[in-house]
Amino acid sequence: MTTTVQLKTRPLKPGFGAELIDVDLAHADAETVSGVVEAFHKHGAILLRGQTMDPTQLVQFISAFGEPEDHTQTQFTLPGHPKVFILSNRVVDGKPIGAHNDGVGWHTDYSYKAEPVMCTMLYAAEVPDEGSDTLLADQCAAWNALSPERQAELDGLMLHHSYQYFMSTREFGRQELSDELKAANPDVIHPLIRTHPSDGRKALWVSTGTVKEVVGMPNPQGLELIDELVDWVTQDQFVFRHKWQVGDILMWDNRCTLHTGTLYDDTKYFRTMHRLWVKGDKPF
Ligand code: SIN
Repeated sequence: MTTTVQLKTRPLKPGFGAELIDVDLAHADAETVSGVVEAFHKHGAILLRGQTMDPTQLVQFISAFGEPEDHTQTQFTLPGHPKVFILSNRVVDGKPIGAHNDGVGWHTDYSYKAEPVMCTMLYAAEVPDEGSDTLLADQCAAWNALSPERQAELDGLMLHHSYQYFMSTREFGRQELSDELKAANPDVIHPLIRTHPSDGRKALWVSTGTVKEVVGMPNPQGLELIDELVDWVTQDQFVFRHKWQVGDILMWDNRCTLHTGTLYDDTKYFRTMHRLWVKGDKPF
């Protein structure tokens, strides 16, 4: 898709991502929204600052990227808005209103599903004065920087992803899954090297948390290889660190990025984000 709208941009870091300047999404016309979608696909990640969006507008906006995806832990979706997931440390009437520290640890979203989400969007409703940055790693740049010999060794490896394994081993929000959640989230196998469907570029599509093993490689060697590759992908040269302001919208393409949230002083600050997902397809 091409558009005639020329959005003002600046890179999030050289060669990766773009901040889109002077776009007011709540009042944007269809052509501008098409320009935003185009920028997302071109840059792999986009940032729009100073937005004021209600949940209905957020769902409408993300629908321009594809069909919004449902969330697994439905108790943390916004009442009346099942596609809007809340990340928060707020407790109201004795109940957490969202998942706290849910995204801490390098991962790619929904990797435990046969069709992981294509795009993640975070909208900042309230943010701490310090901490809680979100980091994005460019998995294509990380793949391209490997030697041809190392690429040949890794190409073809398959990873076993498991939601049950993730939820029983994760640092925050560990949970014994109900029979219903177990049945809805069977283990899946995905390639370590993922091809982007738009242009064939390759990504070192490693992740932590859901990866239980490298297929055909006994542990601990398999998980040691995962740790080594995550260390590679998350070197400073491949990583953009986002410091949040209220009203920021940050979006990334999960087919070519790895991300993590970071901790903050949750005794001093509140952090509330709205997270929306767009459906994806089977990795190859
Ligand atoms: C996520 O991983 O979906 C959220 C990351 C964050 O809270 O910064």
